[in-house]
Amino acid sequence: METKGLYINGKWVMKERTYPLYSPYSGDCVAAISMAGEEDVKEAIAGAHEAFRTMKEMPAHKRADILFRVAQILRERREDLAQILVKEAGKPIRTARGEIERTIVTYQFAAEEAKRIYGETIPMDAAPGGEKRLGFTWREPLGVVVAISPFNFPFNLVAHKLGPAFAAGNAVVLKPAEQTPLSACVMAEIFQEAGLPDGALQVVTGSGRELSDALIKDERVKKVTFTGSGTVGKLIKEKAGLRKVTLELGSNSGLIIEPDVPLDKIIPRCVEGAFAFAGQVCISLQRIYVHESIYQEFSESFIQEAKKLKIGDPMEEATDISAMISSREVERIESWVNEAVQQGAKVGLGGNREGSIFSPTVLLNVTSDMTVSCQETFAPVVSIVPYQNLDEAIHMVNDSVYGLNVGIYTQNINNAFYASRKLESGGVVVNDIPTFRLDHMPYGGVKESGYGREGIKYAVQEMTELKFITIKTEF
Ligand code: SIN
Repeated sequence: METKGLYINGKWVMKERTYPLYSPYSGDCVAAISMAGEEDVKEAIAGAHEAFRTMKEMPAHKRADILFRVAQILRERREDLAQILVKEAGKPIRTARGEIERTIVTYQFAAEEAKRIYGETIPMDAAPGGEKRLGFTWREPLGVVVAISPFNFPFNLVAHKLGPAFAAGNAVVLKPAEQTPLSACVMAEIFQEAGLPDGALQVVTGSGRELSDALIKDERVKKVTFTGSGTVGKLIKEKAGLRKVTLELGSNSGLIIEPDVPLDKIIPRCVEGAFAFAGQVCISLQRIYVHESIYQEFSESFIQEAKKLKIGDPMEEATDISAMISSREVERIESWVNEAVQQGAKVGLGGNREGSIFSPTVLLNVTSDMTVSCQETFAPVVSIVPYQNLDEAIHMVNDSVYGLNVGIYTQNINNAFYASRKLESGGVVVNDIPTFRLDHMPYGGVKESGYGREGIKYAVQEMTELKFITIKTEF
């Protein structure tokens, strides 16, 4: 069994303290992962701080070249990389391949964005006293960025942090999710091969309060970008003080289905939105609100479509749904579903577990106060709820502590705009599921779904500081 080290200043550092990494589906131990301690984190931050001197002097075209090379290496190694996702995350192989293709696009966008970090000129003479003065802005990199990434998109959500950070000329200390460190280690190798200066990317693996505190509290760290749970996100924001943070947190994404849409065209897509990667996606479709006139037909057809999903080994081409990331997560969602049933919910499909797999589950008679509705399930569990009119549906979607992406299917343009204005979220998707995302879209939430935006151009803004310069053009 291989042992993985920390990646510090361009070298692999093996630690005596390791943890076993288990593959979610087979339960096999696939690697021993080094655990970083406080001293390792200090060394990684010091190295990144030093490498930042090189990064900030590197011209944009060189930063772009490195990121283009990363995209090219990913293309060449795409199948091997997809298999890493199968092994460490239990991601079904077709879904894993999709993630690698997106990751390539994300790094390409980052490479392109490196070349268009613009400033603007300010018409100084618009104010009395501004005559014969020139004013303009440019953007400067921040320095050391700490990136803490989740298990659900181990390549692409890391790309959403590393890509813009390097495009802007920062250095990064990456702490990947405890469950998915192998992908981060491979990315370190790929960045080295692509020519990133040693030290500009540091990878520290492990878990625990000591490790995260050491990362967040160090004054040399200028920004923390985090994707994960709301609980951890809030702690990071508290501890970061005046430093910048971007937080991509949870959601219980809702979708409204108006009666004027062709159900046969949208149902397969809704099933995909609810169950892709076993619902372990921040914008997974969790709550479907259907107009009462089509509720019966929609629910029955949705359940029939969901029954077609193939459950099993993530390595098999046909598999749609496989293991959840850990048995603890399976137990959690099982208890939430049981609780909902005790409170009056009806199981339309699934509701049970088979070992590490929780079967695709459709719940009916769900009320907004049930945990499966008001909390993020992060599991293959969706509820279908009828509504009488659009205002009621909008109210039900908004009746949530979260607000990441929401969706509405309608052919009525007025209703589409009306809902887009009234829905409380970072993004509204009209005529598709809230799970829809392209990697250059602005992406982020309101309320407890987060703070700040990703999507390469927007993340570059969050990873740079605006500087204003003014010149008096005559004495
Ligand atoms: C997420 O789970 O936050 C990301 C979803 C995506 O990129 O598709």
